[in-house]
Amino acid sequence: MQGFGATVFAEFTALANEHKAVNLGQGFPNFPAPEFIKAAAQQAIAADLNQYARGAGHPRLVNALARVYGPLFGRTLDPLHEIVVTVGATEGIFATIQALVNPGDEVILIEPFYDSYPASIIMAGGTPVYVPLRAADGATGAAQWRLDEAELAAAVTERTRLLILNTPMNPVGKLFTQAELEAIADLAHRHNLLVLSDEVYEWMTYPAADEAAGRALTHVRIATLPGMWERTITLGSAGKTFSVTGWKIGWAIAPPHLAHAVLMAHQWIPFAVATPLQEAVAIALEQAEERDYFHELSAMYLGKRDKLITALDGVGLTPVTPDGSYFVLFDTSSLTVPVTEGQRRDVAVCRWLTTEAGVAAIPPSPFYSGPHQHLTDNLARFCFCKTDEMLDEAVRRLQAIAGLS
Ligand SMILES: Cc1ncc(COP(=O)(O)O)c(C=O)c1O
Repeated sequence: MQGFGATVFAEFTALANEHKAVNLGQGFPNFPAPEFIKAAAQQAIAADLNQYARGAGHPRLVNALARVYGPLFGRTLDPLHEIVVTVGATEGIFATIQALVNPGDEVILIEPFYDSYPASIIMAGGTPVYVPLRAADGATGAAQWRLDEAELAAAVTERTRLLILNTPMNPVGKLFTQAELEAIADLAHRHNLLVLSDEVYEWMTYPAADEAAGRALTHVRIATLPGMWERTITLGSAGKTFSVTGWKIGWAIAPPHLAHAVLMAHQWIPFAVATPLQEAVAIALEQAEERDYFHELSAMYLGKRDKLITALDGVGLTPVTPDGSYFVLFDTSSLTVPVTEGQRRDVAVCRWLTTEAGVAAIPPSPFYSGPHQHLTDNLARFCFCKTDEMLDEAVRRLQAIAGLS
């Protein structure tokens, strides 16, 4: 563990608290969770669903997951053998990597990556291999951040075991296109790779951002591509989907042989996941369709996204408009901020935004390997999973910074 420092989120949340900044750094909703999921959890505790759950997942929850995801994967899911409930997607990532990566194996990460991926790979004795997305200069939309297929193919060696995909992607807000996913699938088939597809932002997708192509982008699940079900572990998160990040309930969906491997790791990590919270997530999933919940969630986030990107545009911090997730990258090159010796510019700018402008942002360089960190010098990340009042206050403070930098 000696090579690991504290996460960037711990550092910037502490800084934001110290300076009473509006915290658009760490991605957790600050608005109330839906009443129906809270009531279900309270009732589950009152009904004494308080003992260890089935290790692979509370039966009512795996049944609800199979019903919701079956049509999305275009197959009938076996709730008892193809789903493992995890302590958030974070444990899904860790358990999957522990299960599938042997010491010396290589795992391909697409940059910018979610920061628990390399840590989990290193803890399993594996080696992360990094392939950065390439963005057109001055890209103003997430779709302009592209996967270079030749660069990806060149990263594969005979030791490559797994590729980790995150779509919709944090922090870029990119939805991988059908063509990009086909290129990944093609490599997976040719080199016998497995794919861990982290889809925790699956319900936060926004219409018609890909104006150049004249069509709305949709979230494509790589497990639905021909032959990919057998090679893919797909992760989801109740924390993101139902705005309950503190509950730490997630799930892995995979064919039986892979789900079994994940379960064998999971049984020695948490053993089982909080029973009443699983019951509540099951009830929320059972009711989601009749409540039109998923549609309402993305409509709510679309409003917040548009509020923030309009404000960023207005103050000369050009946003990279996201097609999915609740994050937005923006260009900070219009800010003149002192950078100390050895400090990355994006870190200096985000510290300045937090301490001087009073709006906390996250620097994206921790989501890159060392040799690629310069790619993010002029970028910072905000999240918009916050109340409208909080976003409005952030916008007021951003409008005041023109005279500050
Ligand atoms: C890409 C990605 N994967 C996984 C997670 C963690 O999900 P959970 O809170 O369910 O552990 C996050 C949280 O920020 C994330 O951004």
